[in-house]
Amino acid sequence: MMLIWALLSVAYATNVEDLVGTWTTKSRDVLTGPGFYDPLHDKLLEPNLTGISYSFDADGHYEEAYYRAIANPTDPSCPTGIMQWQHGSYAVASNGSLTLTPIAVDGRQLLSEPCRKDIGTYTRYNTTEHYETFSVGADRYSGILRLDLTRSDGIILHPMYLAYRPPKMLPTTTLNPTPTGSHKKRSLSESHLIIKEELINPDRWWWLGVVMTSLGGMAFYCS
Ligand SMILES: *[C@@H]1O[C@H](CO)[C@@H](O)[C@H](O)[C@H]1NC(C)=O
Ligand SMILES: *[C@@H]1O[C@H](CO)[C@@H](O)[C@H](O)[C@H]1NC(C)=O
Repeated sequence: MMLIWALLSVAYATNVEDLVGTWTTKSRDVLTGPGFYDPLHDKLLEPNLTGISYSFDADGHYEEAYYRAIANPTDPSCPTGIMQWQHGSYAVASNGSLTLTPIAVDGRQLLSEPCRKDIGTYTRYNTTEHYETFSVGADRYSGILRLDLTRSDGIILHPMYLAYRPPKMLPTTTLNPTPTGSHKKRSLSESHLIIKEELINPDRWWWLGVVMTSLGGMAFYCS
């Protein structure tokens, strides 16, 4: 048992430096950096296709971009769209697990339910992520460097492929300082709500619905 464990840990051991770069899922359409989040106008920019992207620099900073669709089983032409962006610091523990701690005030989420509301809900987003293991290696088919992140519950994220090295990232410092004064008096839900944004391109959601339908029972693009 111990021997198998030892062999596995050797086989999957990956250096922290191997993480450095910008990684993206197969569509290659979702990438961290200024193309996904515009901090100056505090706006998330909708990619053409769903996907996820993570970037890591050599100094312990990370950035992540998610664009996911969740199918609506009762009305397949009405998927919910979610965009999420966070950045902060990462640490690799001695047992090889990876923890991503966001800068709490900087994370953003845009939730779009085109068939229920004409406007998306734009809020703060702050979620610490733990991954039991990560591995970097050449993909068996494409030969492109690939990153696999395994969550604590054993679920492996969709594989991501190296897009840039060095990584393409926004400034790694706090971009939106905590609101002060009167903002603090607001209730939690209000303070987390930033603005309501007009829904982006409904046509695209219709096509996404068609694609999701053709994928059948696949409820989540990525969990
Ligand atoms: C690995 O270390 C991290 C941080 O100390 C801890 O949270 C996690 O539970 C550990 N994982 C295992 C499998 O022991
Ligand atoms: C962000 O999340 C962490 C961990 O769940 C929590 O301790 C912290 O209070 C949160 N910060 C804000 C500003 O919501």
